[in-house]
Amino acid sequence: MTDAADARPKLTASYLARPEEVHRVLLLYSGGLDTSVMLKWIQDEYDAEVVALTINLGQPGEDYDVVRGKAIDLGAVATEVIDAREEFARDFIAPAIRANAVYGLNYPLFTALGRPLIAKLAVDYARKHGCDTIAHGCTGKGNDQVRIEATVATLAPELKVIAPVRDWKMGREEEIAYAREHGIPIKGGAEATPYSIDDNLWGRSSEGKWIEELDHAPDDDVFQLVTRPEDAPDEPEIVTIGFERGVPVALNGERLGLVELLERTARIGCKHGVGIVDHIEDRIVGLKVRDIYEVPAAAIILPAHAELERLVGTIHQNQFKSDLDRQWGYLVYAGLWWEPLRENLDAFMESVNERVTGTIGLKLFKGSVRAVTRESPNAVYDASLATFETSGGLFSQEASPGFIELWSLQSRMAWRLRESQRS
Ligand code: ARG
Repeated sequence: MTDAADARPKLTASYLARPEEVHRVLLLYSGGLDTSVMLKWIQDEYDAEVVALTINLGQPGEDYDVVRGKAIDLGAVATEVIDAREEFARDFIAPAIRANAVYGLNYPLFTALGRPLIAKLAVDYARKHGCDTIAHGCTGKGNDQVRIEATVATLAPELKVIAPVRDWKMGREEEIAYAREHGIPIKGGAEATPYSIDDNLWGRSSEGKWIEELDHAPDDDVFQLVTRPEDAPDEPEIVTIGFERGVPVALNGERLGLVELLERTARIGCKHGVGIVDHIEDRIVGLKVRDIYEVPAAAIILPAHAELERLVGTIHQNQFKSDLDRQWGYLVYAGLWWEPLRENLDAFMESVNERVTGTIGLKLFKGSVRAVTRESPNAVYDASLATFETSGGLFSQEASPGFIELWSLQSRMAWRLRESQRS
């Protein structure tokens, strides 16, 4: 004998919501097409109330009053707009800088850093509003669903998740048709941005359209932030970034809070065409996908930090740390922000960065960034020893041959052994 409950499709994870469990939903609402369609669709499909949460992580050019108004028009029972830029910069970007965090060949992880914070705030506001379920607009093909759902399942086992965009079979055209039918306004016509965009203080990504064709060089209209390098000023500009304990605190000698420093550095980078990354990425869900990134702030601050860190670290610290940096970046990319190993690694990163204080000057010119000056009270550097003319102080040139003899001993023995066995 089967009853109706048995006939329902089986839920594939314990944290997913059964329809009858969904009464009040906290929706992560950006104001874009997907989440606007969701706002309406969830009310109809689940007969549930929707609370819309919109989070400002520094995405440029967003009008949050408009987003809030749209959520109310679409029937949200409550709306929250949260400026989380300070928290994002302090608790997510600063640790990423200390860990020189990139994934692949230069993706500075801005989306991967934003998602655990967004999901943590979703948990906080779901609890505040008595919601039973969190809804997000991720598809089933990306990393973001992993980052958000792993966070919710970790922090709030009592809350359930729905991911309508992953479940419904609507394509973009059908979503637009649904929006028209239900009076959901579509920003500036369907073609306003042909790309799928995600952005925050630390960078911006574009996906979709021709970006999926690997033999298609970037069309100019994808660069909405960074000036095309060929159009950047003909004169280079030198910027200085001052660090204290591994975190940027000053731009061109002026002390600034981290959010403002990141925003202003991004503006200078944009002007000089800095921070364009054309990236093929191994996603954790198995796919290889191409992304176009614009990361003007990260393209200046990460090399500055790495430069300073190498100056104050010993050869042994420097060799070792890059392995842990890579591990940190991979964990965060892979959606495991709350994994205890990340905290263990952070403790190491903080310990090394206690001495990462000083100033790096970088020359920006038509898309390139190059460190040109370095200064730190903690530099493990002595100009009088580095000069190759003299010997003295802690360094004795006469000692070098003896060092070479012992340093190469095992390699020489192994080489001779193999030579003698070859005949
Ligand atoms: N590929 C990058 C990542 O996995 C960027 C993702 C952008 N997300 C988006 N929903 N458009 O972190």
